[in-house]
Amino acid sequence: METVAAVAREAHGEFSIETVDLAAPRRGEVLVRIAGVGLCHTDLVARDQFIPIPLPAVLGHEGAGVVVAVGEGVTKVSPGDRVVLGFASCGHCAQCTGNLPSYCRKFPILNYTGARADGTSGVSIAGKAISANFFGQSSFAGYALATERNVVKIDAEDVPLEILGPLGCGFQTGAGGVMRALACPAGSTIAIFGGGPVGLAAVMGAVIQACSTIILIEPIAARRKLGRELGATHVIDPAAGDVGAMIREIQPDGVEFAFETSGHEAVVATALSVLASHGLLGLVGVPPRPESSLSVNLASLITYGRRIHGIIEGDSDLDGFIPELVALYRAGRFPFDKLITTFPLDRINEAISAQLKGTCVKAVLIP
Ligand SMILES: NC(=O)c1ccc[n+]([C@@H]2O[C@H](COP(=O)([O-])OP(=O)(O)OC[C@H]3O[C@@H](n4cnc5c(N)ncnc54)[C@H](O)[C@@H]3O)[C@@H](O)[C@H]2O)c1
Ligand SMILES: [Zn+2]
Ligand SMILES: [Zn+2]
Repeated sequence: METVAAVAREAHGEFSIETVDLAAPRRGEVLVRIAGVGLCHTDLVARDQFIPIPLPAVLGHEGAGVVVAVGEGVTKVSPGDRVVLGFASCGHCAQCTGNLPSYCRKFPILNYTGARADGTSGVSIAGKAISANFFGQSSFAGYALATERNVVKIDAEDVPLEILGPLGCGFQTGAGGVMRALACPAGSTIAIFGGGPVGLAAVMGAVIQACSTIILIEPIAARRKLGRELGATHVIDPAAGDVGAMIREIQPDGVEFAFETSGHEAVVATALSVLASHGLLGLVGVPPRPESSLSVNLASLITYGRRIHGIIEGDSDLDGFIPELVALYRAGRFPFDKLITTFPLDRINEAISAQLKGTCVKAVLIP
């Protein structure tokens, strides 16, 4: 079938709106009419070739929509079901069977290569295959092919489907990072570096966990203000001085948890330095270069028992965590809608500029 898609054709270039051909769902696949798709920083990381997906490519990995057809063998969903699309995973490896599918052994193959595991693509232009299957969906489009494993059925009828897509990546990464990966206990202290969609979802997650001190470090004033409204107890502008010293003024012994979303090496170093003894630092921000690294003083790491934890997708298991986040949203405890601005899909380049400038936090594109 034909559908409209935003196609990435060159690193750092604009997306172009084109008509593409989408294959019928194969065994285990699900065809979804996209109601809305979030724009995540990771889409730009792929367009700009930090993730070296061959271009042209249809990206987009925060889709939500309605199932219109299913391939052979699919039993989890049927046409008419409302679904959120998440990351792909194999379902068989030790991490998948251990309910940590975001650390699936095949995660890179299934999410980043631009093709199905067998090397084929479900998307073509004028008979020529282009990269698709990004995060098992490529949902910057009117319709997308997902798999049975990475669609999550949403039973609640009262939630606006078009804004649910970011639960499938950015919001579950922030919330799950704090609620699952760091598992901050009630009364604990946390510093969250970066108040974009992931960092602000982490603030909401910290409130849900009943953290007593939630310090948000973010250069954009509007995002600091939003962080306060969402429950941060303190906000810091990194341009205002020595961030480590400002955090130690609030928490002289350091924070028990830190969560880093900016990806900047210097910020990671600060986050590590403000940890209390046996403190745990969670890293989710994509660094500027594949070779970006950190020099860590091993003696201080060992002496104070500090821990560093790389996190993918907030340890989400999709079928368990996304309905949990929807329930928290319906209870008024995870108001992620406050972060969203919608744009028509054909204004994706404008949405990217707005997100980069900080005039919107999370753009959701409506095909
Ligand atoms: N690990 C994962 O599974 C996963 C999932 C989703 C996104 N990500 C990555 O997480 C990161 C955050 O995603 P996002 O969508 O919120 O991106 P974003 O770019 O909107 O957020 C980053 C925030 O960091 C802020 N920042 C910049 N300099 C800073 C500094 N010196 N100190 C503190 N904050 C600073 C920016 O102003 C921005 O608000 C991105 O790198 C994204 O690719 C990772
Ligand atoms: Zn697996
Ligand atoms: Zn993402």
